[in-house]
Order: sequence, then structure tokens, then C-alpha cells
Amino acid sequence: MQLKCVYFSPTERTKTVVREIADRLVRAQPNLFENVVYCDITPKPRRNSALSFEPSDYVIFGLPVYAGRVPNVLLSFLETMTGNSAAAVAVVTYGNRHFDDALIELSDLLRRKNFNVIGAGAFIGQHSFSKTLAAGRPDQQDLLALDAFALDLLAKGQVPLVIESIEGSLPVRPYYRPRNAAGEPMPFKGIKPVIDTTACTACGICAARCPMGSLTVEGHASVTGACIKCCSCVVHCPVNAVRFDDPYFEEHRLDLEKTYAKRKDPVWFL
Ligand SMILES: Cc1cc2nc3c(=O)[nH]c(=O)nc-3n(C[C@H](O)[C@H](O)[C@H](O)COP(=O)(O)O)c2cc1C
Repeated sequence: MQLKCVYFSPTERTKTVVREIADRLVRAQPNLFENVVYCDITPKPRRNSALSFEPSDYVIFGLPVYAGRVPNVLLSFLETMTGNSAAAVAVVTYGNRHFDDALIELSDLLRRKNFNVIGAGAFIGQHSFSKTLAAGRPDQQDLLALDAFALDLLAKGQVPLVIESIEGSLPVRPYYRPRNAAGEPMPFKGIKPVIDTTACTACGICAARCPMGSLTVEGHASVTGACIKCCSCVVHCPVNAVRFDDPYFEEHRLDLEKTYAKRKDPVWFL
């Protein structure tokens, strides 16, 4: 079997979780997998051609939770995949608020694309918007959970998972909408990061990493296209020249940090 790690991971927490699961599977059963293939679908050009799998593949498929769901910007690309009965493990990472319907949505999508979904797990990754919410996660304690998840997967073998047993709702519920103190939905549409042009060194890292291909660098970086607020540019800027300064965005971040400070634990379904 080939072990294939497929992930979309702008701030690299999902990437870490997926790769740690793969390492554990290989360590526990070195003879089961011929090799490990990594397929990072974060860069926009990687999503130009459809992904197709073999019946003998074992795929770990990881996405971050955005607004309680699979990131909507990926949906049309994911619909082009062909599973060909490959075994699949659905993985989502979330920033300690909740994964809502993201895990059941991803698992159901993989099933519809003809994967044999054998397991699904929701893990916690530092919140993309915050320096404190789930800071440093996945951490040592999460890695212990990944040990257990990998062993559980191997013990279970390729028996299909009953998707409806996954926490969440099918049909999926609407996207989670942050609300202000008065209970009104926050107007996030159109918010983009701002660049401190005096600090920006035009290194191009933000533009190279933007999963939407929405940054250009001419003298300094500017946001010239659509923004999904994934925070890749903010997190990866080596001189901290990129940030969101929108007051609603800031209010939401502070509210998340206050409301969801209590540590959540990974869960999985087999
Ligand atoms: C646009 C956006 C929406 C998010 N929505 C949620 C959410 O609904 N629940 C949650 O707990 N975390 C949410 N997060 C946090 C991410 O799911 C979390 O930080 C994830 O680990 C990031 O994955 P990555 O490092 O692979 O990019 C959101 C992050 C972004 C950028």
C-alpha cells in the first residue's frame, strides 16, 4: 500500500497532525506501507488538476475547520476527486472553539467520492487568528493522542466507518457566523490584512504561501485578490509586517480567546 498524506494547511497545524499520524502508522507497521507520499494542496496551482487515487492507497486527508465546516473555497476542487475505493482517514484541525459539522462533512464528501472512509478524527491546532488560543497545539499531549489514534486505526483495519456516527449533523448546518455582544452577525466580508510597508522587505514569502494567490510584491507586498483570512501571510511574515487591523476581526479574536480558553481534547471515530 502507498500511504498518501493530503492536506490543506495555511498555518501548518493540519500538516503537522497529518504527518504525525503518518509517521506513527509507518512506525507501528513498517511492512504495511511501501512508501509515504505527501500532497500539499495549500498552494493554489496544486488545486488546478483533479486528484485520483488507487484502490491500494491509504489516504490521510486533512483540512482545517473554517466557520464550523470544510473551507468552502475548497469545495469545488474536492468534488473533482476520484477515490477509487482507496482507504481514507478524515482529519480536521480546529482552534479550540468547535469543529461543528466539518468532520462529518469531510467524511461524507470522501464517501461520495468513492473512498472507503475507515476513520475520522478532530484535533486541535493553534487558532489561526490568535497567539494565545490553543497556543502551541498540537503539543506533546496531542501527540500522545495521535499515538492512540494511529494504533486504533491499525487495529481496526479497513472496515468502513459509519459516517453517521461522527459528531455533527448531516445534512450539514449553515456556516458558523461570529456575532458581536449585541448578537448581531459580524460583517467580515471583504476584510483583508494590512501590510506595514515600512517594515515589509518584499521577500515574497507571503505571496508564495497565499493559498489564494492574492498577494503581489512590487516594492512591497499588497493584497490584490480575495482573502479567506487563513492568516498564512500573518503567521509566515518574518518581520511581522502583516496583520488584520479590522475592529470586528479584533473583537472576534478577543471574544474567542475569552470564551474558548478551556482546553479541548481530540476525538475520533472508527
Ligand atoms: C477563516 C477561519 C475560520 C475558522 N473557523 C474555526 C471554527 O469554526 N472553529 C474553530 O475551532 N477554529 C476555527 N478556525 C481555526 C482553525 O481551524 C485552526 O487554527 C486550524 O488548526 C488551522 O489549520 P492550519 O494551521 O492547517 O491552517 C478558523 C480559522 C480560520 C482561518
